[in-house]
Amino acid sequence: MEAVLKVKDLRVSYPYGLGKEKVALDGLSLTVGKGEVFGLLGPNGAGKTTLIKSILGFVGVKSGSIELLGHATLSLAAKSRLGYMPEIANYYWFMTPGEILDLFGALAGMKRAELKNKIPAALELVGLSGQKNELVRTFSKGMQVRLNIAQAILHDPEFLILDEPFSGLDPLGRIDIRNILKKKKDEGKTIFLSSHELSEAELICDSMCIMKQGKVLKEGPIKKALDERGEHSLENYFVKIITE
Ligand SMILES: Nc1ncnc2c1ncn2[C@@H]1O[C@H](COP(=O)(O)OP(=O)(O)O)[C@@H](O)[C@H]1O
Ligand SMILES: [Mg+2]
Repeated sequence: MEAVLKVKDLRVSYPYGLGKEKVALDGLSLTVGKGEVFGLLGPNGAGKTTLIKSILGFVGVKSGSIELLGHATLSLAAKSRLGYMPEIANYYWFMTPGEILDLFGALAGMKRAELKNKIPAALELVGLSGQKNELVRTFSKGMQVRLNIAQAILHDPEFLILDEPFSGLDPLGRIDIRNILKKKKDEGKTIFLSSHELSEAELICDSMCIMKQGKVLKEGPIKKALDERGEHSLENYFVKIITE
């Protein structure tokens, strides 16, 4: 399988206090294949968001390498092939979803005529067509996540990076998000998501990486990993790996 993301021996630390450093990624390596749904799994504080921010160039990397879509450094051209859903998106509450997507589409370099078609299509896909002209201020958590996903997929990127797409959703919301992601996978997109919702990850992900304290404990296809240990659920497997 063609690799679209290759992370090698990545080290990232955050400064804190006087001359001290908090190590967030401690020699982390992983590979994501084209067309895969890859789940970055780990407890809170494992370094999932830090890895995502490193891939996007939002945090400085101390050492190691990241190769994404064939590029060793993230050029503007490569960035336009990515979609990113942040863990926390504070959209302007006085705007409507239509206006927000218009703004983000323009920032992504999309043309007016293109936006005219793509905005209704994205809102339709995430089930927000009926709320197109409502203020984001009135949105529930589930509606905010849908808008966050619409923003990430608007320009039809081939590589989607989603930070905790299932967090805070009710069961119906999760099913909807799962179906949206399945649709994107069927279109051949690669999806890289972080989650601590293991039952969701098991349903949607092909491969996974279990992280703890900035290190990879296990990486590979989920089914293969469970079979190797005779486990029937990712949750049981995860608990064993994390506590070993
Ligand atoms: N801006 C920051 N400054 C200092 N420490 C940070 C910062 N962001 C994250 N950390 C620390 O780095 C570690 C990894 O955090 P994070 O990547 O957010 O983990 P996760 O997304 O898996 O919950 C944690 O110990 C966290 O406290
Ligand atoms: Mg996080």
